Amino acid sequence: MLGVAGGIAAYKAAELCRALVQRGYTVQVVMTKAATEFIQPLTFAALTGRKVVTSLFSSGNSEETLSSAVEHIAIAQEHDLLVVAPATADILAKFAHGLADDFLSTLYLAFTGPVVLAPAMNTNMWRHAATQANLEALRARGHKIVEPEDGFLACGMIGPGRLADPESIADVVAEQLEHRHDLAGETVLITAGPTQEPLDPVRFISNRSSGKMGYALAEAAAERGARVILISGPVHLPAPRGATVVPVKTAGEMRDAVFGNLRGATMVIKAAAVADFHLSTVPQQKIKKTAARLSLELDPTPDILAELGRDKKDWLLIGFAAETENLEREARRKLQTKNCDMIVANLVGGDESGFESDHNEIALALKTGEFLRFPRASKRELADEILTQALHLRHVLAEPAHER
Ligand code: PMT
Repeated sequence: MLGVAGGIAAYKAAELCRALVQRGYTVQVVMTKAATEFIQPLTFAALTGRKVVTSLFSSGNSEETLSSAVEHIAIAQEHDLLVVAPATADILAKFAHGLADDFLSTLYLAFTGPVVLAPAMNTNMWRHAATQANLEALRARGHKIVEPEDGFLACGMIGPGRLADPESIADVVAEQLEHRHDLAGETVLITAGPTQEPLDPVRFISNRSSGKMGYALAEAAAERGARVILISGPVHLPAPRGATVVPVKTAGEMRDAVFGNLRGATMVIKAAAVADFHLSTVPQQKIKKTAARLSLELDPTPDILAELGRDKKDWLLIGFAAETENLEREARRKLQTKNCDMIVANLVGGDESGFESDHNEIALALKTGEFLRFPRASKRELADEILTQALHLRHVLAEPAHER
């Protein structure tokens, strides 16, 4: 589905439409009312050979009107991807906030597949805090944003805001459609969030993990067709669509849930921040406050990743490393000592990435000896990158060593 919103760049959507048709896609064009002020629906109808949808309701009698609305929403179920070009500041705001007052914004809410957004607008509108906040929210949902280019804009300003080249938008569409089912047939077991190790019936030791990284991985894997089992410590996040969530509290419970759900897994990804120490014997009553100093003797928890590494079968084993220094050295060390295929290393300790943030900055240490760094991005974008690299790695590891 190609959504065209009302901006001066709407005419370039015709080029994008032609590029998509030339690549063999069936394209259903949906235009906002404002878009029809800039370019005629007939242009798109001629390019696609399909009637263009310009409004939620047809102008006939009430029965026709109702059936057209139902029929139109059915479009969402029949198509594989939604690309919006140009995505105006207005349509980005509607998508970000879930408003549904025209066909395109209604369709967006009814559609569950991948979304590609190619914004185009005046430089100041692009830089405005409201637009940037809306883009952040849309990125965090896993939508792909094709950044506008710098250049001379119709309003006379020079700066970012010009619609990206239609061929490069078509490339992103192709890439997203390739991702679409590339994990079909896989069973991905993911751990996420912190663990809570009780000290008494009311207190526990835990850490700052929000679960966002692991949940982003679960969401991305499910969207790409995998069966996903998400073993989650206590977090405040909604269950990712399509994933089976197994809630746990302690490291011991997480270990049992991992090994209890391992059958059939083809990838195991350990994004959880598992507590390293716990009280082996938890007092049955609340520890009383006294003036005296309190010392607690803690024992190590089971190292689930190391145990998986020792017991390694033919699943791809991906561990995480949360470090405050020496990222590469620590990642390579954990790759070896825990017998993993990949370590996702992230620098933690700041507010901009790692724990709690919607963003992360990661590097991947691979069994092939490579060490790949990625710029700071949303956890959802990085989740897709990790899964793409994991698939590629498995492919490489399957080749005879002398051919790699
Ligand atoms: O949840 P968020 O707020 O989104 O934050 C994401 C994150 C920072 C928690 C995540 O990106 C991350 O780094 N997770 C791993 C945190 C961690 O425990 O790192 P570690 O270096 O201490 O452990 C290394 C690996 O061993 C991890 O895969 C961990 O899951 C695993 N481990 C650790 C201890 C233990 N007892 N059992 C384990 O399996």
